[in-house]
Amino acid sequence: MSGLSTREALRDSARTAAESLEDAARWARGWLAVSAALLLAQAALPAAQVVFLERLVDSLSAGQPSWGPLLGLTAVVGAMYPLGQIGLAATQRMALRLRLRYRVDLAHAAARLAPSRLARADVTTDLEASQAATAVMDVVAGRTLQVLGAGVTSVVLCAVVWEINPVSGLLVLAALVPTVLAFTGISRMEARGWPLVATADRRAAYATEQLVQQRPGTELAVLGTGGKVAELIAGRRTEATKVLDRMIGSAMLWEFAAALATAALFGGALVALVRGGASGAGTAAAVAGTISGLNAIRLCGYAFGTIITASPQARIYRRFVASVPPAAPQLVVRDVGSLELDSVSFTYPGADRPALRDVSIRAERGEMIALVGVNGAGKTTAVNTLVGMLTPSTGRVLLDGRDAAALTEPERLGHFGLLVQEFGKFEFGLRDIVALGAPGPVTDDAVRRALESAEAQTFTGRMPDGLGTQLGQQWGGTGVSGGQWQRLALARIYLRGAGVWILDEPTSAIDAEAEREIFSELRRTRHERITVVVSHRAWTLRELDRIYVLDEGVVVQEGRYDELLAADGGRFAEMFRDQMKK
Ligand SMILES: Nc1ncnc2c1ncn2[C@@H]1O[C@H](COP(=O)(O)OP(=O)(O)OP(=O)(O)O)[C@@H](O)[C@H]1O
Ligand SMILES: [Mg+2]
Repeated sequence: MSGLSTREALRDSARTAAESLEDAARWARGWLAVSAALLLAQAALPAAQVVFLERLVDSLSAGQPSWGPLLGLTAVVGAMYPLGQIGLAATQRMALRLRLRYRVDLAHAAARLAPSRLARADVTTDLEASQAATAVMDVVAGRTLQVLGAGVTSVVLCAVVWEINPVSGLLVLAALVPTVLAFTGISRMEARGWPLVATADRRAAYATEQLVQQRPGTELAVLGTGGKVAELIAGRRTEATKVLDRMIGSAMLWEFAAALATAALFGGALVALVRGGASGAGTAAAVAGTISGLNAIRLCGYAFGTIITASPQARIYRRFVASVPPAAPQLVVRDVGSLELDSVSFTYPGADRPALRDVSIRAERGEMIALVGVNGAGKTTAVNTLVGMLTPSTGRVLLDGRDAAALTEPERLGHFGLLVQEFGKFEFGLRDIVALGAPGPVTDDAVRRALESAEAQTFTGRMPDGLGTQLGQQWGGTGVSGGQWQRLALARIYLRGAGVWILDEPTSAIDAEAEREIFSELRRTRHERITVVVSHRAWTLRELDRIYVLDEGVVVQEGRYDELLAADGGRFAEMFRDQMKK
């Protein structure tokens, strides 16, 4: 956004202003009409003031006071303040509606983002910038009306003063110029400063979340190290404050220069009036009207500045929302006959060696297979190439014998029920937490069955408001243990009922007794699907159809539990012998 020329900045602002008016016409038509009418009426007041004042003074000097102009003047002066206030309220109500719309649209756009895009830092940055933009874009339509109103004020005032003295009239019109120039300058400066402020703000906001959210906040409080995070926040906030402070300082200079220039033009208009030999009435009227007009123009400067500074943020918002393709609904695929990783290799960007090398894995419907290996062996990476969140550098992923790369992302993801290693602890109502497993509508019965299969009924059955129970103590809801959260995550996978289940350490936080029950339920229900588990616990691997042993990204062994354990000197026996002794 930095380095925009004045022309580009003005063109961008004009575009933003026009788009905002279009949005208002679509989503807040009534309030747009009311605001426009009020602002237009207000815009005519300084000129009306000139006309009435001139007539009044004329009639007074002629010795025949006339009531018409007096009434008119009273109405004009009386209307200025209330019209302004009501106009402001109307534009605020318009802004509320626009903000709601922008925020809801952004939420929908974010919800449509493919997982592969969500993993990118630039996408996160755009997403957060767009979120921040909704707090400034909402007022742009109202500010645009104010600027247009100020333009009308200047032109009408110029025309009226022109009658009294043409040079003065032109100088009144010219008084708009310094304000516009100053705010253009200010906005160019701000366009350079805001990205710095936004980055610092984002990091500070993240750190603040860690302090104020219950789970991380408690962890830090227990460690007694919240103060360190507070220091991080202070550092980021200080950075942002310094940039903002410099920005406000420069803006002060710009505004001061503009005020001087405006005063000079105003003085010039007065001199022209006096030297032009205007009547006393004309001079008095023009002076009073010009003062009112200048006030309106100063407000316009502020409005103009808002548009021009909101414009770069609005560009990011609109580009982002437009960049997310319309929702392709994910359809869960229940029938998957086979899956295969065929000689897949993958290297993370910037890594010096591959995380997967020539990995081949296969499974058929009804089978339950496992990936095992020490931390960092490549299990999660293999899972991510399977579902399509990572693209193999060589090799293929086959679903029912077809290259999965030919599928669209939602089509492909629909094949899987993926329980990730760092599963979400979504603090919503119980029903909603489980219903997040499937894209379509979900019945309460289905939710209960899923809870049962995931061994979650034991604790959810006792919850105070049944399926409506709010979870998470920070919302005044029911507290849930780590292993219980994991069972809820597993319930989502049951509810989803996809053709391939991938469970990355599904019982890592779960006690031995519940783990046994969960695995026996998984085995009991395995026939209609393919099940892939990642596990570190030996006994969960018995009775599985095949176990793939990964070591530094390579499949070093493959077979059934007993075979692998019997293979003396094998990696599997080496890894699990200790567990077997207990
Ligand atoms: N996003 C990433 N960028 C770069 N390297 C990564 C990334 N994710 C994982 N790695 C590296 O790839 C290797 C395999 O990681 P992976 O997460 O697949 O291990 P894992 O077998 O799932 O381990 P764990 O048992 O700890 O879950 C590791 O060396 C890891 O450091
Ligand atoms: Mg892992």
